Amino acid sequence: MKIITPETILSPTRQLSGMSIAFDTHIRAIGQLHELLEQFPEADFVEVPLHSLVMPGLINPHVHLEFSANKETLKYGSFMPWLNSVIENREDLIGGCDANCMSKACDEMLKNGITTFGAVSSYALDLEAAANAKQKVLFFNEVIGSQATMADTLYDDFMSRVEASLQVKREGFYPAIAIHSPYSVHPALIKRALKYATQHNMVTTAHYMESPAEQEWLASNSGEFKPFFTEFLKQDYAVNTSESFLSLFKDKPTLMTHVVQADHGELKQLAQDGHTVIHCPISNRLLGNGTIDLEKLDVNKVSWVMGTDGLSSNYTLDLIEEMKIALFMHANRDLTTLATELLTNATVNSAKALGMNTGEIAVGKEADLLIIDLETTPSEQLPVHLLLHGYNIQKIYINGNEVS
Ligand code: BEZ
Ligand code: FE2
Repeated sequence: MKIITPETILSPTRQLSGMSIAFDTHIRAIGQLHELLEQFPEADFVEVPLHSLVMPGLINPHVHLEFSANKETLKYGSFMPWLNSVIENREDLIGGCDANCMSKACDEMLKNGITTFGAVSSYALDLEAAANAKQKVLFFNEVIGSQATMADTLYDDFMSRVEASLQVKREGFYPAIAIHSPYSVHPALIKRALKYATQHNMVTTAHYMESPAEQEWLASNSGEFKPFFTEFLKQDYAVNTSESFLSLFKDKPTLMTHVVQADHGELKQLAQDGHTVIHCPISNRLLGNGTIDLEKLDVNKVSWVMGTDGLSSNYTLDLIEEMKIALFMHANRDLTTLATELLTNATVNSAKALGMNTGEIAVGKEADLLIIDLETTPSEQLPVHLLLHGYNIQKIYINGNEVS
């Protein structure tokens, strides 16, 4: 058992001072030091700086490790030119990032306080790096392909990747399933993959309503996706509508990534079916997809969390940076309320959406903790300053073990 007495605890919804935490793999007690010492007289003390803060480790539910080699290869500014540049440069990008390069991306996340991540895996080339990462990992095996004639082959390939991920036996590694998007996955494939996920109790995710081009293609089989599909895939209509896509997910709460272009009806449906939106503001800006309307999510009671997306549409895998950008992007929202909301969504709410018992400084939660040196006594605007000044992370615990 360890006992830590920081100056401040950010739970993340409550800011406490003068309290101690007793933890082993889990948080066992929170209270006055003398009370905890009575309960756990043999406990070891964790040394902390004078102005220390303990908060839950951050959760990044959406990253593409396989594309971590990108810096200037991909074309930013608008979705279709970006997607075309991904297809054009895919081999080089993937070939340019070996297991070592992907492990570096995992280490970058850890350095930035991310103790759990969701890796969306297209080819299972990231399996080794994800399996060896120090963090908790949801390994999202992705299914993709809109052509009916290819469905069986693609499903078999997907299943062999799922099975490979099931061979990884380590604590904190969870095989999971990603459906690429409504425009790129045939409904028959979606049905089979979701059925498998439900039967095996696996977490699911999908990209949904990311770009104006996707919205137009799904709504009216027109727009910038039309030449893409007619030329590359010999299709002149979308394989799903937005509505038919969502109907497939009715009984499987899923993490829906981006959702920038969804209308009120779609948002209402997302809330009704218990889905959670993953907000990736930097990716949305760089790919010209617009800004998610948080008021519209609120009105429709849609839950949302924060994600970085991959280095294919971001310059860093840093949720603090992502939250700071969100703080400035959603400038009409109250500053302190939004900062608190961002930190809550990046920890406890993300854990809930992923079905994990972490993300919170509370008794019974897994001890995934960040110890931060604030260098000064925090004000009541701590959430704002954490995002503005960044984190000076001194120690990180995952399941109560110190990692670095
Ligand atoms: C498809 O198979 O339809 C597809 C694959 C990748 C990107 C877009 C569409
Ligand atoms: Fe993504």
